[in-house]
Amino acid sequence: MPMQPWFTEAKLGIFVHYGIYSVDGVPESWSLYSGEVPHERYMRQLDGFTASAYDAGAWARLFARAGAAYAVLTARHHDGFALWDTAHGELNAVHHTPAGRDLVAEYTAALREQGLKVGLYYSHSDWSHPDYASVTHPAPPNESVATHPLVTPADGVDDPRAWSRYLAYRDGQVGELVSRFRPDLLWFDGEWERGEEQWGLPALAERILAGNPETVLNARMLGYGDYATPEQGVPLQQPPGPWELCLTVNESWGYQPQDRAHKSVRQLVRYFAETIGMGGNLLLAVGPREDGTFLPEQVERLEGLGDWIAKHSEAVHSTVAGLPAGHHYGPSTLSADGRTLYLVCFDPPRETVSLRGLRTKVRRVSVVGSGALLGHRVTGGLGEVPGVLWIDAPAPADVDGRATVLAVELEDELDLYRGAGRS
Ligand code: GLC
Repeated sequence: MPMQPWFTEAKLGIFVHYGIYSVDGVPESWSLYSGEVPHERYMRQLDGFTASAYDAGAWARLFARAGAAYAVLTARHHDGFALWDTAHGELNAVHHTPAGRDLVAEYTAALREQGLKVGLYYSHSDWSHPDYASVTHPAPPNESVATHPLVTPADGVDDPRAWSRYLAYRDGQVGELVSRFRPDLLWFDGEWERGEEQWGLPALAERILAGNPETVLNARMLGYGDYATPEQGVPLQQPPGPWELCLTVNESWGYQPQDRAHKSVRQLVRYFAETIGMGGNLLLAVGPREDGTFLPEQVERLEGLGDWIAKHSEAVHSTVAGLPAGHHYGPSTLSADGRTLYLVCFDPPRETVSLRGLRTKVRRVSVVGSGALLGHRVTGGLGEVPGVLWIDAPAPADVDGRATVLAVELEDELDLYRGAGRS
C-alpha cells in the first residue's frame, strides 16, 4: 500500500501521553515495570484521575495553532489503562476513574472538527493484564524481556491458552478503536516483548485494513508498518522511506512535574527543520496533567513553533526533502515542482550565504516571510563543475530570530552536481 499522501504532507504531529501516571507525575508505565512504584500504589492513581478540565476542543485548537496536521493519543499504554469505553479488560477511564468519560471519543471528534487527522497509540504489551506474562519470546532481545515477571512466565512454562486469551483481548480493543473511531493512523508500541508470529501481526494488520484500508501503521507493527519511527534524535542520514521522529518537548513522555527541561522554541524549530529537510515528520510529545491541561511552558513551545511554521508555511507545506549534506550549511526543503529551494539559516547570515553544486540557473532569491529580495552571483565553475552561488545576507530586519529561510527560485527543475571535480 503506498503511503497516504496526507502523512508525508503533514510535517508536524502532536504526541500526547495521557494516563493515570499523570496523577502522581511518575514515569508512564515504566515506573510500574521498574518497581519504582509498586503495583498497588500505581493503580491507586485511578482514583485521582479526574480529567476535570479536559477540553478536547482546546487541545485540537492548540495543535492546529502549533501547525500540526495530526495528533497521536495514547489510547492504551503499557500499563493497560484505556482512555475509551472498552468492553475488554478491567482498566478504563470511563468505568474505573472519576473522569467517567470516553476521552478518546471526545478527542477524535474534536480533532476532526479542526481538520486534523486522528492518530491513536496502542501498546501491544500490557503489564497489568493477568494473561500477558504467559509466554516467552523465542529470541528475547535482552535479559529483561527474558526474565521480567510482568513479561515472561516466572516458572518458564508457557501457557498458550492464556496467551490466546490475551490476544483476543488485544484484538478486541484494537477492533473497537478501528470500528468506533476510524483512526487515520494507528501508532503501535511495545512490540519488542514478543516475536512477530506470537503477536499474530499478519492477522491483526489484515483486520485493521479490512476495517479501513487507508489506516497508516507505524513500524512497531514490525513487517506491517508503513514508516520508520526514530525516537528522540534526528537521524544523521535520511532514512530510506517515510519516517517520523518522535521527540519529547522536555525529557518525559508523560507529565512529570519535576521535569522542567523544556527545549527552547529555537531548538524545536531546529529539530523540525532538520526533520522535514530529510523528508520526515516531527511527532512532538507533550504530557498533560491529570486534569487534562498542559503546562504553560508546553503551550508556549507549541505556539512558538506554530508561529514559525505559519510564517514559513511555503517552505514547509507541499515541500519534499531538500539538499543532501555538502551543498548548504543547514537543512533545506524543495517545492513539489522542484523549482524552489528553501535554505534554512539558523544563525543570522553574515555577508553572504553560499550554495555549492547548483547547476540550475537562479531566477530570484528572497526572504520567506518578509519577501525582501536578495542579490546573488556566481563565482568560479569550470566545465561541468558549477561555481558557488553567493547570496547577499538579509538585512537585520529580515532576519528571523528563530531561523531565517531563503527562497531560491530556479529557472528550471533543480539539478545538482554531486561529483568530486576534475580527477
Ligand atoms: C517507548 C516507551 C514509551 C513511549 C514510546 C514513545 O517505546 O516505551 O513509554 O510511549 O517510546 O515512542
